[in-house]
Amino acid sequence: MNPLIPLPDPIPVAWGYLLALLLLVFSLHLLFMNCLLGTTAVTLYLQRRSDAVANRLATELSRALPLLMAFTVNLGIAALLFLQVLYGQFFYTSSILMGSYWLAIIPLLILAYYALYWVDLRYRRLGRQRWLLLAGVLALLLAVPFLFSNNMTLMLHPQRWSGYFDQDNGTLLNLADLTLWPRYAHFIAAALAVGGLFTATLGRCYRSRAPELAAYARNLGMTLFSRLTLLQLLIGPLFLFSLPQPLRWQILGDSPLATLLLTTALALLAALLVNAFQQRVLTSLALLVPLGCCMVALRAWLRSAFLQPHFTLDQLQVVPQYSPLLVFVIVLLFGSALIGWLLYQATRAARQDM
Ligand code: HEM
Repeated sequence: MNPLIPLPDPIPVAWGYLLALLLLVFSLHLLFMNCLLGTTAVTLYLQRRSDAVANRLATELSRALPLLMAFTVNLGIAALLFLQVLYGQFFYTSSILMGSYWLAIIPLLILAYYALYWVDLRYRRLGRQRWLLLAGVLALLLAVPFLFSNNMTLMLHPQRWSGYFDQDNGTLLNLADLTLWPRYAHFIAAALAVGGLFTATLGRCYRSRAPELAAYARNLGMTLFSRLTLLQLLIGPLFLFSLPQPLRWQILGDSPLATLLLTTALALLAALLVNAFQQRVLTSLALLVPLGCCMVALRAWLRSAFLQPHFTLDQLQVVPQYSPLLVFVIVLLFGSALIGWLLYQATRAARQDM
């Protein structure tokens, strides 16, 4: 047993419930994070275009950005809650080791959020400064997932934690990890691609009132989405081959669950690529959601496989207290229904304004 790993706290309900909720909220976190990062990049790209339709699309996209940020952050907090309950002894330790960077995430996100509101509320008045602000936001939104990937990989390697004794100022990153860069590239390529799909989806809302805008959004968005998704055929295997050999072989056949997740994901990816290149927006969206869920489940499997020599979730002691979970689920269902209704009303009002 590594003496640097703290003892885990007891949990209030069986770990399966907590893991299921973690996978649910994390999948949603990733979906919104992808839309946020990718749409910021598309809006930035559109600043370089001088045609009226591109300008109009950039205005519409910039209105969605603060909302996407709010969803990303709130769903991230929910994921944080479940992650710390299940893997607190690993996650807290790695967060402390890179604490200076970890705490910096909060001011970085506040800056990005503020800048997005600024772009949205003063879009016309900002003029050329819009480009600068959006570029700054994009840089911040690229830095934050990089720090997350560092933490998510550092927590998997307790043997590296002794690096603290040479670097005790909270700046220990996991840069020497072979998996870090392909993992990060995998996330960022996905985010930029999904930004394209979001652009095309948003464009659909304007089909009857502004068909030119809708066609432009669909063409730009689906071109971006299909090409970047194709690029994942290169990045995905790179990530797989950066994994330690025993884990790679488990994913490639030795573990039935991991292999099933990978093959399902690949089948969905093939179907997705066909539909994306044919610019079918809704079918692509319908295929992206289960594909994302498979990838998130595979990532969770990989984490438990990495940690297996130190810890498995069934070692957690359960001290039953089911009522907080019940309250959480009720509030989640009620809150989701309310947000769905608010979004519906907001979209309806926006369409009438056009
Ligand atoms: C306060 C805001 C945020 C919180 C609390 C948060 C929380 C989390 C948590 C808890 C995880 C890990 C979940 C797990 O391992 O099961 C995670 C992963 C991730 N988050 Fe966030 N997040 C926030 C904002 C963002 C933003 C703004 C971005 C990107 C623009 C982002 C991108 C990512 C990525 C790419 C991962 C996966 C990293 C990896 O596994 O290598 N997050 N986030």
